[in-house]
Amino acid sequence: MNRQEALESIRENVENENLVKHMLATEAIMRALARHMGEDEKEWALAGLLHDIDVELTDGDMNNHSMLGADLARDLGASEAVANAILCHNDRHGVLPETKMEKALFCADPLTGLITAAVLVRPDKKLAGLEANSVRKRFKEKGFAAGANREQIARCSDIGLELDEFITIGVEAMKGIAPQLGL
Ligand SMILES: [Fe+2]
Repeated sequence: MNRQEALESIRENVENENLVKHMLATEAIMRALARHMGEDEKEWALAGLLHDIDVELTDGDMNNHSMLGADLARDLGASEAVANAILCHNDRHGVLPETKMEKALFCADPLTGLITAAVLVRPDKKLAGLEANSVRKRFKEKGFAAGANREQIARCSDIGLELDEFITIGVEAMKGIAPQLGL
């Protein structure tokens, strides 16, 4: 499956534009992480792009979320490694992230939300002027973007990254696709 086919399937299954943007942001961060770590950029990016494809189909039911997504990805022709990364990004199924790609998706997913929230409180609401340092400060504010799970973000240590480095990679990756994110 190529990226275009993945996007077409997303368009068929996801109406919420913000959810599509979240998946695009996760894709960008996963690609950047793979590049940083010398891993397979295409595979990592695809896992990021597809990871929430079933959110509307499962109607927010976290007990089904990501199981259906993994099946969909497999049906589309994604590798078992990508399907498994999608499956275990939701920790409700008792399948823990084990591979580097799985661990990367697990911590990259909530980072997009924290970065987006940090952009939206800026007067210009633009990614261009956002510094990783200010995202780091927001990370420490518990009440800020509380949905962006800090423990999960901090699991970047599982792929050998310091939090500062992880946030910097995430911010730069999202800046690279700012127009698509509308930020
Ligand atoms: Fe997600």
